[in-house]
Amino acid sequence: MARIMLTGGAGFIGSHTAVVLLERGYDIVLLDDFSNAARDVPDRLRQITGIAMPVIEADIRDPEAMRAAFAAFPVDAVVHFAAKKAVGESEADPLLYFDVNILGTIRLLAAMRDAGVGRLVFSSSATVYGEPDTCPISETASLRVTNVYGRTKMVMEGMIEDLSRTGVLAASAILRYFNPVGAHPSGLIGENPRGVPANLMPYLCQVAAGQRPYLTVFGNDYPTHDGTGVRDFIHVMDLAEAHAAAVDRILAQDGGFTVNLGTGTGYSVLDLVHAFKAATGIDVPYQVGPRRPGDVAACYADPGLAASLLGWRASRGVQDMCRDAWRWQSRH
Ligand SMILES: NC(=O)c1ccc[n+]([C@@H]2O[C@H](COP(=O)([O-])OP(=O)(O)OC[C@H]3O[C@@H](n4cnc5c(N)ncnc54)[C@H](O)[C@@H]3O)[C@@H](O)[C@H]2O)c1
Repeated sequence: MARIMLTGGAGFIGSHTAVVLLERGYDIVLLDDFSNAARDVPDRLRQITGIAMPVIEADIRDPEAMRAAFAAFPVDAVVHFAAKKAVGESEADPLLYFDVNILGTIRLLAAMRDAGVGRLVFSSSATVYGEPDTCPISETASLRVTNVYGRTKMVMEGMIEDLSRTGVLAASAILRYFNPVGAHPSGLIGENPRGVPANLMPYLCQVAAGQRPYLTVFGNDYPTHDGTGVRDFIHVMDLAEAHAAAVDRILAQDGGFTVNLGTGTGYSVLDLVHAFKAATGIDVPYQVGPRRPGDVAACYADPGLAASLLGWRASRGVQDMCRDAWRWQSRH
């Protein structure tokens, strides 16, 4: 079976993908600088899968460390998760985001070229669509970034497309995630935000746990069924399975492609609050605040291309997402 390096493999989406790849028989090498991950994640992965994997503590921006990583562990492909991902922080410190996300990706791609590794799966984001004209959003929609984080994803997508076109990369998959939530059903791994969570589900879980008094709903006058913003929440295990399908494909077939990873169904903020109650029995208190600048009314994926290219569709529902997120939160 092939060996795959996961950069940022100790993070939220990387750790869940590691579980699925290990369970499907892939060997993995986990590379992370642990700037946004707990040090015991590799041990938890071993508890879930019964398999220990090599762990390299390295910064993707460090050329010598990356050269040494590929020399020590020859791999067939890389899944590149390592990045900074907070929109607010990216607006406050754009150069940090250019450095970690863009320069880090250049250094990784150069180390891959030098090591003769030409197959890549890349974590992109629906953020690249900005304010879409229509929903569901297909991959052909215009890219209109509205913040620095989105800009870095758009630049990295362009670099990967150029490397595919010029043959430096033999195969590449650019995956545009919608709103990943939930956790592994074991409750052993999940999303671990530092400080005040920037995303809805971790915030909602912290309110449910009594760590915060209430959830602020940003705006209830959007043109949606209940006035609150509608998003395409996708269970992180569905996302992890999509990565495994993308890895299968880039190993089997040359060429580059870009796909949305979402369920295709939008849920509003209040739908999520109600689903959380149905799944856990807990009423989450909320207050309605003003709209947040830059938020769109509705954003959900057309998942058709992922289904046809990868043979993958999300199967878990919104109550699974709430139940698994809560299990992780309450055990943590
Ligand atoms: N979570 C989301 O909502 C979401 C949505 C769309 C796209 N994405 C993208 O998916 C990827 C993974 O996101 P996540 O939610 O798992 O984030 P995360 O922060 O949990 O995981 C990222 C991992 O990368 C590591 N890392 C950061 N900088 C590094 C560096 N310079 N060198 C080595 N490791 C480094 C961190 O320690 C962390 O373990 C990111 O590229 C993110 O932009 C995430």
